[in-house]
Amino acid sequence: MILHKITEVREKIKEWKKEGLTIGLIPTMGALHAGHKSLIDKSVEKCDRTVVSVFVNPIQFCPGEDLDKYPRTLDKDNELCEQSNVDIVFAPTPKEMYGEGHILSNDFLTYVIPPYFYVNKLCGKSRVGHFDGVCTVVNKLFNIVQPDFAFFGEKDAQQLIIIKKMVKDLNIPIEIIPCPIVREPSGLALSSRNKYLKEEQKEYAVALSKILFNIKSCYKKGITDTNALLETAYTYLTPNHNLEYLEFCDENTLEGKSTADDNTRVFIAVKIGDVRLIDNILLK
Ligand code: PAF
Repeated sequence: MILHKITEVREKIKEWKKEGLTIGLIPTMGALHAGHKSLIDKSVEKCDRTVVSVFVNPIQFCPGEDLDKYPRTLDKDNELCEQSNVDIVFAPTPKEMYGEGHILSNDFLTYVIPPYFYVNKLCGKSRVGHFDGVCTVVNKLFNIVQPDFAFFGEKDAQQLIIIKKMVKDLNIPIEIIPCPIVREPSGLALSSRNKYLKEEQKEYAVALSKILFNIKSCYKKGITDTNALLETAYTYLTPNHNLEYLEFCDENTLEGKSTADDNTRVFIAVKIGDVRLIDNILLK
């Protein structure tokens, strides 16, 4: 069932809560793929009821980013959700979520701002304000749906770590369930933004996972100096790869690491043409 209004969702949630049912939420921006499907399946298995939100959240896009061209495929998304036994697809408009007015201005909205230390690196460095927009919308979705469990993909690991921190710091009574990255046979991590890749660019895109897998295999062979591990990446990079970052961070605090250990997550972002791709791997 697709619902577009917050009040309609609230009514349904009230009924479910009265019946003592557990609720799982999968927040998404739509263009659902097998990665999302794995989150949905986990929720359907674990919870009595599952809600998928489909909302291209304007306040998490920076000026000049792909807000307008971000793929919007609600009918197809709804089909996938129906086939997967999702109970509600919540697809609000920006107006429903943020009201009238200048939604890109802080003057019109109370924001949830994650700690500076978590956002001054990796994607937060080039996407200034992005995680404020993510935390704000996720908080709103949590309050609208009031789930017991919320499912997030490890593909956006910085986002997941920041959301876990927000939930802990603000005592939000929701358990966050991290779900592993789903990859194509080539190793390419599934992402709605892969739709932007032309066939020849897809071949270059495989470098991200190759770099990460190779770093992990070097680590498993005993190399822990992150500078040495970093060097191994260069064999996979061509002039078609514009490396934005390749960093080694603590899995929970995002602190930079000079010596890798089992709690180290390696994060990479590369631009291929004007398509920006991210990926990551835990060394454990
Ligand atoms: O990961 C995403 O798709 C988005 O950042 C999220 C969590 C749905 C918030 O808009």
